[in-house]
Amino acid sequence: MRVGSAESAGGRLGAVLAAPRSGVVSLGRSGPWLATTPASAKQVLTDPAHFDFPGDVSRSGDLSASRGDTRSGHLVFDALSPDQVAGGVEVFEREWAAALAAHERTTPHAPYDAMTLLRVPVARSTTAAVLGSADSAQRDRVAGQVLAWIDALAPVIAARRPPAGWTRTRRAERRARRALEETLAQVPGVDPAPVATLLAAGIQVPIAAGAWLLAWLADHATGDVDPLHAVWETLRLTPPTWVTARITTADVDLADERIPSGSVVMVSPLLLGRLESLVPGDPAGLGDFDPDRWRDGARRPGAWLPFGAGPHACPGRTLGLAQLLCVARWAVTRELELSEPVTIDQSRGITPAPCRFRVAPRREAPQ
Ligand code: HEM
Repeated sequence: MRVGSAESAGGRLGAVLAAPRSGVVSLGRSGPWLATTPASAKQVLTDPAHFDFPGDVSRSGDLSASRGDTRSGHLVFDALSPDQVAGGVEVFEREWAAALAAHERTTPHAPYDAMTLLRVPVARSTTAAVLGSADSAQRDRVAGQVLAWIDALAPVIAARRPPAGWTRTRRAERRARRALEETLAQVPGVDPAPVATLLAAGIQVPIAAGAWLLAWLADHATGDVDPLHAVWETLRLTPPTWVTARITTADVDLADERIPSGSVVMVSPLLLGRLESLVPGDPAGLGDFDPDRWRDGARRPGAWLPFGAGPHACPGRTLGLAQLLCVARWAVTRELELSEPVTIDQSRGITPAPCRFRVAPRREAPQ
């Protein structure tokens, strides 16, 4: 096993996984709180009147940043339409093939780096889905600027304390965001600030998810793996947005606890994805990557909320799944092999670092 396990990762991840599964627990003396059962997690995510979206989560692990004090009632994203998803998938397939071909052409003897390989295909695919009306040159420019903004945000999110406005890190981040918003302002019918947020969330997270998928498949014999089961199993073991947060707007009862107004309450798809009640298979093996556990269809994949739930659930869920499915279909027909062990980087959601692998054509199954 060459992919680091969340169970022994330590840090915030370790603290969340070690929490008792009693309903809701306080991780410190006065929070943050963590909902640890499917019922308490659902209550937190689907009752925005009592559990509001934080005003600024730009440092909490995902990119769904916003500027007001709270978000519910101000800005809710519509789910992408089937046409938008179809446009995004078409671009993903083309760009994924192009990225693989470019690697073969320019660095045929070097291992593939999953996070690098996925950047342009995901960025162009999500941008095509969101900005269907823009011409392709404009879209590719936007895709590049979103990647630049995501890169500039990384040190802001990873910093122990929020960097002050005058620091080089903050100024670089603001410059990158402004450049992106200026380009978006030229696209007819686009409101730059929320669309910038939508694009960043819809690019950073699927890149991480795709890299985890490649890491898991490279660490296991592909045999006759069902690509969709591999996708769900990846989103179960290493959901990139492994924790999300809400703020209580009043004193509120949750699983027999009274949570004071203004508290942070977290929900972790990574924790929920390890509950026996939601996942089929041997309870002792819930930390193992086993796509086959979904084969008999007895339990519904996704009950651990890898795309959230309620009014702030992921609007790009269908596109994200489709992008991952393209990658899985490619990977299961080949032999992937990790070049070195993969560890869990917790500085922004969770990402596999490093995630380098080599590819050989699929070996014939033994007779
Ligand atoms: C496999 C890929 C993806 C995963 C695992 C994922 C996961 C998530 C999760 C867990 C949330 C909820 C956060 C919360 O409730 O606090 C979320 C929100 C969000 N996602 Fe995704 N996502 C993916 C792909 C995408 C794509 C492709 C897009 C855009 C096209 C997108 C755009 C967003 C946005 C804008 C939000 C914030 C929603 C809000 O604040 O109301 N995501 N995502």
